Amino acid sequence: MEPIDLRSDTVTKPTDEMRRAMAAAEVGDDVFDDDPTVHALQERAAELLGKEAGLFVASGAMGNLVAQMAHLARGQETIAPASSHIVSDEAASYAVVAGAGVRVLQEHPDGTVDPEAIAAAFRDPSDVHEPITGLVTIENAHAHSMGQPLTPAYTAAVAAVAHDRGVPLHVDGARLWNAVVALGVRPTDLSGPADSVTFCLSKGLACPVGSVLVGKRDFIWRARRARKLVGGGMRQVGVLAAAGLVALRDGPAGMIERLGEDHANARRLAEGLADLDGIGSAGDIAQPTPGRLDPSRVRTNFVMFKVDRDRAAFLAALRARGVLMVEYPHGQVRAVTHHGISADDIETTIVAVRAALAESVPDTTSSASPVAAGHP
Ligand SMILES: Cc1ncc(COP(=O)(O)O)c(C=O)c1O
Repeated sequence: MEPIDLRSDTVTKPTDEMRRAMAAAEVGDDVFDDDPTVHALQERAAELLGKEAGLFVASGAMGNLVAQMAHLARGQETIAPASSHIVSDEAASYAVVAGAGVRVLQEHPDGTVDPEAIAAAFRDPSDVHEPITGLVTIENAHAHSMGQPLTPAYTAAVAAVAHDRGVPLHVDGARLWNAVVALGVRPTDLSGPADSVTFCLSKGLACPVGSVLVGKRDFIWRARRARKLVGGGMRQVGVLAAAGLVALRDGPAGMIERLGEDHANARRLAEGLADLDGIGSAGDIAQPTPGRLDPSRVRTNFVMFKVDRDRAAFLAALRARGVLMVEYPHGQVRAVTHHGISADDIETTIVAVRAALAESVPDTTSSASPVAAGHP
C-alpha cells in the first residue's frame, strides 16, 4: 500500500491530464526562446499576476536566486525575514552566487516583519562603510509560521516602505496560491504591490518540476540572463511547462481552486491531533501559545506540532504505520496536506499518530522536550 505521505506538498505527482498534456506538448528550443508551450505558460503566469512577463525556472530556489541576481548589484544587501527560505534554506546562494548580503529581521507568529522595522533596517547610502540596501523580500505563504498567508494590506505596506526608498520588493510565493485561496483574494491583490513574484508549480499545484518568476519585461530579461549563468537554460522544456498550463487553468479544471481542500484537511488533522496527549506546542513562531496545539493556526496546508517524546522515534513509529511526516526547524514535526491526501487519509493519520505516541516513550528529561510545561 502507498504510504500517506505528508512530508511535503512537493511529493505530489502529476495528474493524468498533466501527463497527457506533457506527452502532446508542442516544443521548441527554449534557450533560443522558441518553445511555444513555455511562452504560453510564462504569459499565463504573468497574466494571472498582472505583470508584464514571466520566466519558467527549474525550481523555487532558482526563481529566488535569479530574481536577486536581476535586482541586485554585487555587494548590495537584501532585507529579509530571518527564517525565510531565501535566508535559511537556499545554501546561502544570495552570497555565493548573487554576491549580496542579507539583513535579517525576526518575524512575528503571523509571518510578518514590522514595516517600521524594515524601514529602520535600510542602510545609509551616503556612508562608505555600509552596504547599500538593494531589495526587500517577504515570503507568502510564510512557511515557518505554519504557512500563514500574508495579506494584501501587509504586502502593500512593505512595498510602500521599499518603494519610498527606491528599492524593489520581491515576494517568494512558493505557496502564493495557497495564500490566495486562504485569504479569498485576487492573485493580483498579493502580487500587485510587488516588483517580482516567484511561485512554485511543483508543490500544491502538483506539477512535476518548475516555478515561474514574474515581473517587468526588462527585469525578466535580466533574470533570463541570470538563469543562463546558473545553468538553468533548458531546451525542449515545453514538456514540463505543459503541466503548468494545466495547473493554472481557471476553476475546477486547474489546480488552484482545489487547494481549499488541502487547507480543510490540514485543519481537520490539527483538530484531531490537538486532542491527543503528547502533542503540543512550545511557543514559537509556528505555535505562539505554549501548550495545546491550536488548530486555528492552520490557515493553509501546513500542520506543525511538537511531541513530548523522542521525535525520531515517534516519526519511525509513524512510518511503521504507513504515515510519513518530517522533522522541521524549531523542534517541530511537520505534516503537509496536498493533492495526494484525502479526507479519509487524515482520519487514518490521526489513528496512526495516537498509536505511534502510545508506542514511543515520553521524553521528559531532554531539554528539547517538545511540549511545553503548560501542556495538559
Ligand atoms: C518558501 C519557499 N521558498 C522557496 C522554496 C524552494 O523551492 P524548490 O524546492 O522548488 O527549490 C521552498 C521549498 O520548499 C519554500 O518553501
